[in-house]
Amino acid sequence: MLEALNECLSPERVRTDPDSLAHWGRDWTRSFPVAPRAVVFPESAAELQALVRLANRERIALVPSGGRTGLSGGAVAGNGEVVVSFDRMNRIVGFEPADRLVTCQAGVVTQALQQFAAEAGLFYPVDFASAGSSQIGGNIATNAGGIKVIRYGMTREWIAGLRVVTGAGELIDCNRGLVKNATGYDLRHLFIGSEGTLGFVVEADVRLAAPPEPQVVMVLGVPRFRDILAVLAHFQGRLTLSAFEFFSELALTKVTAHRDLPRPLAQAEAFYALLEFDERMLDAASDCFEHCMAEGWVTDGVLSQSETQAQNLWQLREGISESIAAYTPYKNDLSVRVSRMPAFLDGIDALVGERYPDFEICWYGHIGDGNLHLNILKPAALSQEAFYERCHAISPEIFARVAALNGSISAEHGVGLLKRDFLDFSRSPAEIALLRSLKGVFDPNGIMNPGKLLAP
Ligand code: MLT
Ligand code: ZN
Repeated sequence: MLEALNECLSPERVRTDPDSLAHWGRDWTRSFPVAPRAVVFPESAAELQALVRLANRERIALVPSGGRTGLSGGAVAGNGEVVVSFDRMNRIVGFEPADRLVTCQAGVVTQALQQFAAEAGLFYPVDFASAGSSQIGGNIATNAGGIKVIRYGMTREWIAGLRVVTGAGELIDCNRGLVKNATGYDLRHLFIGSEGTLGFVVEADVRLAAPPEPQVVMVLGVPRFRDILAVLAHFQGRLTLSAFEFFSELALTKVTAHRDLPRPLAQAEAFYALLEFDERMLDAASDCFEHCMAEGWVTDGVLSQSETQAQNLWQLREGISESIAAYTPYKNDLSVRVSRMPAFLDGIDALVGERYPDFEICWYGHIGDGNLHLNILKPAALSQEAFYERCHAISPEIFARVAALNGSISAEHGVGLLKRDFLDFSRSPAEIALLRSLKGVFDPNGIMNPGKLLAP
């Protein structure tokens, strides 16, 4: 097999040393075994096609690897697969100002795209804490969301064209960067969020937006979970929010300790909301703040007075994930419609308290778009395996509540390996059968990221 791989790619772009296998064989999850047999670094769509054809002939399973910042095991290679890294396909290959379209190879890092857009006087609005390492191909594969979804939507909204190598080794050009294109099934949207199970993205035409006006950030102390939603509804009724995030006191404790940051407010509260909005809406925002104080939803607040202060307040939210990584948290990434969030919060809070009496629970997330991150932290004394098993056993109870409210068991992290066995809480048997049929059409020999999203 190595000889055959070397025929597709020059030898220095086929690695089998243990360090490379360990590095490129995993994502940010730490619960799954890692055992790829090789890592390869194609430099073009043609090379990737040659690899996929070889994989079909030899029945070699391929796992795509971007920035490996995934949290559901979608890029983990645990069964002797060949990892296909997009690290060498990291160029921005075109920009057309009249179309506001930038053409990126799959391995372009999110932050590089954001910087390119800013230098062109434009804006790429999809943003999250892992923007410095995540790659656009991986963002597309998981339809990544993040902190600005409430205003700008998910990655899907920004992809105007996609070049993809399918599991059968064909290179297809989906939607060609067009704004209007009514020629039948839009395959582009099938690949977005498909976690590399149908084909691998090689290039994308990404839409850019006009840059936002100057923004300000406000952090509010909110004693009761439910009242975060009253605050959201009040502000949202009066101004356009660019972000509405929340985190719990435990999350704040972890991130301030980890990054040595000052606390935002004099007094500790059970929860905090972080809002971002256009600076010119400050008067409206001040009125909203007064109202929330008068209602007793909010006890205190702070407003950024400079760009640096705004960034420091954002760190309180964006730094949480990294600050709890050492606890190898069991990650839940749940969503319901915002209107169902009050009912959901009450039920889930009670359930978690009951089922995890001895674990630390770290809440945070993008509550403005209906997305909660519920992280169960591993007690130091418990082994990784025992902890994972216990959390996994409780998941069905949590997911049943999500299902009862027609929510999703994975809002933005993807299904991968972590949520795979629970897919039926969010997708009906008829839908899952269709997903399987589609997999068979695009990947007839089952070589594209097998075992992810759909059980083998
Ligand atoms: C976040 O919102 O911080 C990211 O989705 C990462 C995480 O949930 O840990
Ligand atoms: Zn998130």
